[in-house]
Amino acid sequence: MIYPITLYGDPILKKPAKKVASDQKDVSVLVADMFETMSHASGVGLAAPQIGKSLRIFVMDSTPMKASEEPSEPGLRQVFINPEIIEEYGEKWPFEEGCLSIPGIREDVLRASHVKIAFFDELWKQHTCEFDGVDARIIQHEYDHIEGILFTDHISAFKRRLLKGKLTNISKGKVDAEYRVKVPYRK
Ligand code: NI
Repeated sequence: MIYPITLYGDPILKKPAKKVASDQKDVSVLVADMFETMSHASGVGLAAPQIGKSLRIFVMDSTPMKASEEPSEPGLRQVFINPEIIEEYGEKWPFEEGCLSIPGIREDVLRASHVKIAFFDELWKQHTCEFDGVDARIIQHEYDHIEGILFTDHISAFKRRLLKGKLTNISKGKVDAEYRVKVPYRK
């Protein structure tokens, strides 16, 4: 099932998401729906708050981004349930980020090059892994989502002021997105 994507301005995107209970029903269905929603919108990452569910889950598939940025490396397709970032390290580097909840806006964001993260998969198997490059970048962006943080929170106040009009338009649903969206404050 393809969900509409929650847009910038919806309060669910600004609040920390809740832990998933290990007896949570149909978690594998939700994960499959998240992958489907992400690919339908041509995204490389999607967090549960972006489909209106305040849960600590995100999915990613870096395959399309790897093909252009790091062609020698295979893509990573993975779900992260109740993830905990253990460490971020390495030199900070800028990368132009976008977000399915903020269509039409892309800005450079500085983040550490490496991330070490513990998480569960949809079979509740626990993993602890380290990532770098675009994989780390996507993980850091999506992890922010379940903490209620958007990439626009990382840019300068000056840049954010320049984007204010565009962001207001997005929150009113004035967007040109090739996927179904859920407009904040509209029932
Ligand atoms: Ni995003």
